[in-house]
Amino acid sequence: MDFVLLGAGQRGMIYARYACQKGHGIAAVAEKDPVKREIAQREFHIPADKCFADAAELLARPKLGDAAIIATMDRDHFGQAMPAMEKGYHLLLEKPISPVPEETLALEEKARETERRVVVCHVLRYSPFFREIKKQLDAGAVGRIVTVQHNENIGNFHFAHSFVRGNWRRSDTASPLIMQKSCHDMDLLVWLIGSGCRQVASFGSLTCFKPENAPKGAAERCADCPCQDTCRYNAYKAYLPVMGSWPAAVLTENQTEEGLREAIQTGPYGRCVFRCDNNVCDHQVTALEFENGVTATFNLSAFTNRIARTLKIMGEDGELRANEYTNEIEITRFASNGVDRCESCVIRPDLTSTGHGGGDGGIMEDFLALLEGRQAEASSEIRYSVESHMMACAAEEARLTGAVVNIADFRRRHGKREGA
Ligand SMILES: NC(=O)c1ccc[n+]([C@@H]2O[C@H](COP(=O)([O-])OP(=O)(O)OC[C@H]3O[C@@H](n4cnc5c(N)ncnc54)[C@H](O)[C@@H]3O)[C@@H](O)[C@H]2O)c1
Repeated sequence: MDFVLLGAGQRGMIYARYACQKGHGIAAVAEKDPVKREIAQREFHIPADKCFADAAELLARPKLGDAAIIATMDRDHFGQAMPAMEKGYHLLLEKPISPVPEETLALEEKARETERRVVVCHVLRYSPFFREIKKQLDAGAVGRIVTVQHNENIGNFHFAHSFVRGNWRRSDTASPLIMQKSCHDMDLLVWLIGSGCRQVASFGSLTCFKPENAPKGAAERCADCPCQDTCRYNAYKAYLPVMGSWPAAVLTENQTEEGLREAIQTGPYGRCVFRCDNNVCDHQVTALEFENGVTATFNLSAFTNRIARTLKIMGEDGELRANEYTNEIEITRFASNGVDRCESCVIRPDLTSTGHGGGDGGIMEDFLALLEGRQAEASSEIRYSVESHMMACAAEEARLTGAVVNIADFRRRHGKREGA
């Protein structure tokens, strides 16, 4: 099978490499950055006349492959996915589908209308860890689910990298935090609970990463800062020790000490975390009620050490506690009193080598199986992903207005694009 790649950045290259490892080809690439474009051209043996500096140029050509991998930035997805589907491409579409609810709904409609298969990269549905949780819940491990406590622990240095200095620091140029980071979590909740969502309330703000919290005398950039030694967010401390791997790999293609120092001195990742132009929340709590009566709380926070999700799922007959970092799922069945021993077990799902706990490889497997006709549908097709996006957008509206937002009503209000 031949793929076209729109955006040869961090995500796009993962999927493209996976496709090639499985014997498929990358027939064309569109990538704005000439260095990244050349790397993709060389690695995937793409002819020069099939390498484009912008996705629009590639999409203006007659169809060049069977499917498109769209891994550009959040607000580009809609403008690229629409014409790609019209051209006849099936899509592997990075999340978020779009931060704009009208666009998300319009893309779902277009997929239906054109009969294109669109798999949205909610990769966690494919990780052995979350698959095991789903399997246990479906098998009745805790009985009927009553309520869920879910935490997305972003990790303080990850937050500073991606959501203060990096691509996703502003809701107007990328997405609100709850959409960017947690359309995954909304999707997990819908999937695990087995129901759409009825209503949400949400609270949160940007508390830490703003100018009034800068150390006294801090400079605009780490390179010039007198607080280098004492500041935990000093970019040299954040990136030099992890040269060659994420997140240092995001700064520059030149993964040498010299290359990283240059990027820190001149690029966005060398800015003081208290003096950036970021506006997304650094903590947000959301309360959700599902259509089947299950309730959930979701805590999204920059202020954690580990980067890992933790959950507690409370059912009528038992509770399931899960920690992505320790790779442990503990299931306890309730006893009649506080003296009898509860039936309890700990499951440690197989660890796999691809990113997102195996989710990156898993989603590509599903997408390939779908395209090759080995299976009739994929777990993360757009018709399933839209609910999570409505929930994330509605939670953001709830946070901004202080209202409790009904999801069906939110969908109705955003169902038609302006001018459509
Ligand atoms: N599924 C996940 O878990 C997950 C994780 C991280 C990021 N993402 C999403 O994946 C997308 C890409 O993220 P990333 O980390 O790979 O970012 P990235 O910046 O590494 O890659 C995006 C690439 O798109 C290129 N690009 C931008 N506009 C373009 C255009 N008009 N034509 C061609 N190329 C263009 C950029 O030059 C860049 O190389 C984002 O929407 C992000 O939200 C998903």
